[in-house]
Amino acid sequence: MNIRLYPTLEQADRDALQNAAVVVIDVLRSSSTIVAAIENGAEKIIPIADVETASRLVRPAERDRKLLAGERKCCSVPGFDLCNSPEEFTPERVRGKTIVFTTTNGTRAIAAAAKAARVLICALTNVRAVAAALREEGDVVVLCCGAEGSIAAEDLLCGGLLLASLGDAVAPQSLTDAARLARILADGFGHDAEGFVRASDHGRRLIALGFEKDVVFCSRIGVSASVPVVREGAIVS
Ligand code: MLT
Repeated sequence: MNIRLYPTLEQADRDALQNAAVVVIDVLRSSSTIVAAIENGAEKIIPIADVETASRLVRPAERDRKLLAGERKCCSVPGFDLCNSPEEFTPERVRGKTIVFTTTNGTRAIAAAAKAARVLICALTNVRAVAAALREEGDVVVLCCGAEGSIAAEDLLCGGLLLASLGDAVAPQSLTDAARLARILADGFGHDAEGFVRASDHGRRLIALGFEKDVVFCSRIGVSASVPVVREGAIVS
């Protein structure tokens, strides 16, 4: 398996995303939220880049089966049903529902992979399940979302843990410096993901904003068997 790992969306070679299996990683928090929502029975999640388009997609009469969710500057968007905290997406709230979802970085990265052969959503919570789902792939792009152009250390950690789970399946010559650094993070800090994620830029920001529970939730490794994938523009199980 050939792997290309990009540490931020902005550094990704858009041509490389075409025809590959693209793994989108935004540990804090959109990937973790998507995994939780799909695991808890959401029928589908429609990723949308901007708030205005998302709002237009949910008419008042549809509110019983369609939810508007997402964040800007990590906080709730006025008029939305849910923010971007994974624990809000309970079975009671999301089972059988379509969720129209817009976040600052995560949904933009999913949109950037529109021409990929396959798109899989990966968080720390489902990293092992994603690795298992990739076993037969020949060409894999690991797209760490980062934060508006900057590296997000927790995304690189997750990318490194994904590479570690893939083990010998990965062609060593395909590992760039970014991929090797991600592996080094996984080897050095995978045993204390929560401590590592708490100390990250975005982890500290979320804790300061009152979202410490989300940071703890999103730091758990391999607790979910769910592998959300994009099919015809929507994220499904
Ligand atoms: C994003 O997509 O940028 C995020 O998931 C930000 C957040 O709400 O933590």
